[in-house]
Amino acid sequence: MSITVSHISKSYGIQKALDEVSFTVGGSEVVGFLGPNGAGKSTMMKILTCFIPPTSGEASVCGFDTRTASMAVRRNVGYLPEHNPLYLDLYVREYLDFVAGIHGLNDRTRRVNAMVERVGLGREQHKRIGQLSKGYRQRVGLAQAIIHEPKVLILDEPTSGLDPNQLVEIRALIKDLGREKTVLLSTHIMQEVEAICDRVIIIDRGRIVADDKASTLRSRQQHHEVIEVEFDRAVEANLLLNIGGVVQARRNEGNSWLLAHDAANDIRPAVFRFAVENGLQVLGLQKSERGLEEVFKELTRR
Ligand SMILES: Nc1ncnc2c1ncn2[C@@H]1O[C@H](COP(=O)(O)OP(=O)(O)OP(=O)(O)O)[C@@H](O)[C@H]1O
Ligand SMILES: [Mg+2]
Repeated sequence: MSITVSHISKSYGIQKALDEVSFTVGGSEVVGFLGPNGAGKSTMMKILTCFIPPTSGEASVCGFDTRTASMAVRRNVGYLPEHNPLYLDLYVREYLDFVAGIHGLNDRTRRVNAMVERVGLGREQHKRIGQLSKGYRQRVGLAQAIIHEPKVLILDEPTSGLDPNQLVEIRALIKDLGREKTVLLSTHIMQEVEAICDRVIIIDRGRIVADDKASTLRSRQQHHEVIEVEFDRAVEANLLLNIGGVVQARRNEGNSWLLAHDAANDIRPAVFRFAVENGLQVLGLQKSERGLEEVFKELTRR
């Protein structure tokens, strides 16, 4: 296993930030670590990267215990902390060379060149970090995280504050890194999870409330399915409720409606019959995917 977390608890004074958290991550997987603000995501990541010790429990990376073999853990882990702390007065290449030095790498120039290439820093490589835009600073943060070729990457909100173009590029880079590494990343953006994560762990108030494939999670708690139907003219909501199986009818926009129904039956034939009987035309009909966002809200509602 690349990451093994076993009954980890962490208290800050009287506050319990993590409460008996256990999970494992293996192989080349991109795992999304989700949870509301203050859930304990960053705390868990700091423990996995040996920045803070847990109050109790055990965590290991690539088989090395974070408490008893922290140097080995650091060799195997690349970490992009929350808010991406960087030395703003250093030049990009100078900083990456410095990080390579800390890791004791002896082919430093080659590594720095490779990183500049890998994260797309070519045009910015001779600037001071303080002169870079947020997206490029994020790239520097990613470059320092992977310069020593770690097997495991821990990325704490790697895409926060990026513009849509940068977002797409950085996500593609992370997904690409996930092909050969284990990636654990925290995020608040559900589309990101849908776009790049194979698996999702949801944590709330220091406890894990879900750990599953994104697709399974999406369908797991689904008692009702929703279809979206558009008619050619206005219809009364109470008429729609007469369609066998429909439990709720909500106007979407214009003459388009969201019809909730029992997941057990397909109501689409009944919708077509309803349209014919009432002289309506169906302009569109599709299943409405209940997104991960809904699942997240349901699991972490206060
Ligand atoms: N050094 C600290 N001292 C005291 N309390 C702390 C410390 N670090 C974190 N906490 C508390 O522990 C809890 C978990 O914090 P953590 O930063 O792990 O949450 P998070 O899931 O990363 O949240 P966010 O989504 O806002 O980044 C919070 O209530 C926070 O206030
Ligand atoms: Mg955090």
